[in-house]
Amino acid sequence: MKEVVFVAGSSGQIGTELVMKLREMYGVDNVIASDIKKSSDEVKQGGPFELLDVLDRDALFSIVKKYNVTQIYLLAALLSATAEQKVKGAWNLNMNGLFNVLDLAKEQHISKVYWPSSIAVFGPTTPKHNTPQRTIMEPNTVYGISKQTGERWCEYYNAKYGVDVRSLRYPGLIGYKSEPGGGTTDYAVHIFHEALEKGTYECFLKEDTELPMMYMPDGIKSTISLMEAPAEQIKIRSAYNLAAMSFTPKILAEEIKKHIPGFTITYKPDSRQQIADTWPGSIDDSEARKDWGWLPDYDLEKMTADMIKNISHP
Ligand code: SER
Repeated sequence: MKEVVFVAGSSGQIGTELVMKLREMYGVDNVIASDIKKSSDEVKQGGPFELLDVLDRDALFSIVKKYNVTQIYLLAALLSATAEQKVKGAWNLNMNGLFNVLDLAKEQHISKVYWPSSIAVFGPTTPKHNTPQRTIMEPNTVYGISKQTGERWCEYYNAKYGVDVRSLRYPGLIGYKSEPGGGTTDYAVHIFHEALEKGTYECFLKEDTELPMMYMPDGIKSTISLMEAPAEQIKIRSAYNLAAMSFTPKILAEEIKKHIPGFTITYKPDSRQQIADTWPGSIDDSEARKDWGWLPDYDLEKMTADMIKNISHP
């Protein structure tokens, strides 16, 4: 069957890169990018693009029919820090956007759904190190509550209606092609730009705040591998733990100093510190490795070298 892929949220940090990869795989005309705002020129001019608010169920349905869409990647969401500022709006977008897409699959208009979860599903009572797939989950952020609830609904739609929905608990994602927006892990992207432009960075998290992170090429690889795996290999229909590396701002700064010896970092924790304090430091992703062969390509050293190379010579 010919696959036609629809990406909601294509202007975002993941969407920008995922659309490019999907267009390579499925052909430019078979990947429809969409966002509530205009996407980067590369995404928009590179193939079909639709302006869409995923909360507009009828408009979403019309686009699915217009292009005969078979798969949806639902990336439109508000991230952790923004969600704390826009509590009801974040809940509405993160939950009702998901329902609109899950319902399209339930009614058999599309055959496969990807929806991202996050390390934010964990909370202050979760074991912090090597956090298992199944453990205490008492998230206390709006974003975390929406991701945890979303996971439960994905599992429910799979079990009750046979919806082929797949999900990953992304760590903080680091890339040079697009800016993150409104997340707690964003420092790990900003630090590179400021290091190269100014030689110094003021970090909004404390120096010893360890968080799980991943380089974007691994983020894209994991997403595509999960979606391409045969359905019977996907044993977890809530969301898979996923890991590549873990570090603190201090450790990242030391690694950057190997490339930019004069680089300095200062620390001025803000409200995002409270969010970071509730998240794990490291993740056990053995189920993803076992079920569909997950293996990351990038560690801290390799990621840092590649970020600096690409930001310096775009
Ligand atoms: N990177 C996201 C955030 O910081 C977590 O999923 O909000």
